[in-house]
Amino acid sequence: MAASFTCTVLLLLFHSAAGNPSVSTPLGVINGVTERVAFQENTYEVDKYLGIPFAKAPLGELRFKKPLPYGTFSEPYNATEDPPACPQYDSYNLGKPLGKRSEDCLFLNVYVPRQKPDEKSGHAVMVFIHGGGYAVGAGHMFESEVFASVGNVITVTINYRLGLLGFMDLDDGTSAGNFGLWDQRLALQWVNVNIESFGGVKDRVTVFGSSGGAVCTLLHMMYPPNKGLFRGAITQSGALVVPTAFQKNNKETAKHYARYLGCRYENQDDIFHCLKSATPENIIKVNSDVIAAGDMEAAMKLIISPTIDGEYVKKHPTDLYKLAESEPQSEIEFFRSLKLINGINGAEGALFIMMMGRPEDLDQLEITREQINNHHIPGAISQIYGADKKVPDSVKQLLIAEYTDWDSPDDPKRLREQVLRLNGDTYFNVPGIEMSRIHANASNVDSYVYNFIPQLHKRSLPTPAWVKKAVHGDEIAPLFGYNFAIYKDKTDLPPQWEYDLSRRMITYWTNFAKSGDPNKPVRSALPSLIWPKYSITSQQYMILDKEDSVSQFLYAREFAFWRNTLPALFREAEHAQPSTSEYGNQVDESCEKDGNCDGG
Ligand SMILES: *[C@@H]1O[C@H](CO)[C@@H](O)[C@H](O)[C@H]1NC(C)=O
Ligand SMILES: *[C@@H]1O[C@H](CO)[C@@H](O)[C@H](O)[C@H]1NC(C)=O
Repeated sequence: MAASFTCTVLLLLFHSAAGNPSVSTPLGVINGVTERVAFQENTYEVDKYLGIPFAKAPLGELRFKKPLPYGTFSEPYNATEDPPACPQYDSYNLGKPLGKRSEDCLFLNVYVPRQKPDEKSGHAVMVFIHGGGYAVGAGHMFESEVFASVGNVITVTINYRLGLLGFMDLDDGTSAGNFGLWDQRLALQWVNVNIESFGGVKDRVTVFGSSGGAVCTLLHMMYPPNKGLFRGAITQSGALVVPTAFQKNNKETAKHYARYLGCRYENQDDIFHCLKSATPENIIKVNSDVIAAGDMEAAMKLIISPTIDGEYVKKHPTDLYKLAESEPQSEIEFFRSLKLINGINGAEGALFIMMMGRPEDLDQLEITREQINNHHIPGAISQIYGADKKVPDSVKQLLIAEYTDWDSPDDPKRLREQVLRLNGDTYFNVPGIEMSRIHANASNVDSYVYNFIPQLHKRSLPTPAWVKKAVHGDEIAPLFGYNFAIYKDKTDLPPQWEYDLSRRMITYWTNFAKSGDPNKPVRSALPSLIWPKYSITSQQYMILDKEDSVSQFLYAREFAFWRNTLPALFREAEHAQPSTSEYGNQVDESCEKDGNCDGG
């Protein structure tokens, strides 16, 4: 009686003192702040717990090691301010400005809506893994007050180690790589242990991520020991990007860093000791210096991504896909046991156009026949097959035929559209749809696909005016209810239809987290249309636009072309004529040596 009275009083205390919410977790008491937010005609209250440490600071001996759990709080923890972001260079950022940075950056943020949950058992939970090429970004940039409130789910955003500090893999036991993935997993384990204290249900956790965050999400879905940490995922414009995007290790890249840092780099011990003792500021300066110098080739050599480390990632996902055709693979079976929404934006390939020059010059961009034939097409092939692959002339001719607009084959404005298509297909569209085809190829799977296409009022990246569909990252701002700084100018707000789209997206995403089906339980903002499951026969998917619609066979032709037709032609040409005309002399030399082609 006394105990329950105390409990009640405590609960009242915890929830009545507006502005000072507090929760008692297995790790100790965490204090937060309450904020009031508005979206369309409604206002909401949301409790925010910002900057909760989930891992020990990865400093000193813990650099280049798997993260360790933070442990318990000896006194109540004030989670009331944005945490530092992990060390990174300055980049164009969509969300909140990053603020301070520190190598001690393994924090997460929890947003808890004050409304009653839609299910009796408690709130569904969504954990967002930010993108940014494994090199930039932070959880708190993606301010989730509106998403959590409108969707009525607990939302968690997380930091993970980035760049060299997050992914250095020397393949020799000193630095095994994928620390950023282990950080994300530790954050998911934290959610599993603690989220019930916030009113969440640990059996109803969904991971979502965009771009690099979606690739990480895919890797978590193929690591069977993650069973029980989440039951579904939403991968936004991630898939694998190109097959060559994962290396076995990044020893060569680490060597470049050591060289730029002025260290000895003849043997791996020297490289390891150099990078282990370098300050994070000096490591980041290596990146920012080459970027400031506009040296794209050097910048490419410094790119760090997840590796096939032998533990978290044992095999390249495309190898798993292939192996699964002949015998069951536990990774693929685990992947299919999880619910999935996978999506691709309308003009993903524009990302590579935007790397070709200053935004104001790209409006007038013209591509010549010579450029597409001798630069863009070979670049795409070397990205997919590796730079050493000899390209028979028949393959080159077929690619030229496929990526030409035959109404006006040499029109430089039509050719730029073809470059966009080519890059979109190779980096995003084909690997993206492949992922859903693999996922859906079994009975009893919950698989959904979307294509997000609208041309928004404000784009996520500086986009040439001639690109009329959504580019990489454009889905993020509406998904988070336009709750970002660049949308706070009341004289320049997105049009009404974008807010309606935003509400629908929040509803689909959070419905999926609540029920495993984007169509239910909440229908108030949705059209009468039902988002059908994706299957390898009907291939139905949702087009998210001014008005949503259902269509079929997204990138089916492109998939067949890149995954069936081209490999068949390659095989045939190699078989028939071992010394077929070689295309390699057209690829520039650095590209051949390093496999770091800029791909156009
Ligand atoms: C947390 O905030 C409270 C109230 O502002 C303050 O009294 C307390 O000292 C803070 N705790 C820590 C560890 O800073
Ligand atoms: C589905 O899987 C089977 C065997 O597991 C394989 O033979 C078939 O090609 C797959 N279908 C698709 C469309 O991927």
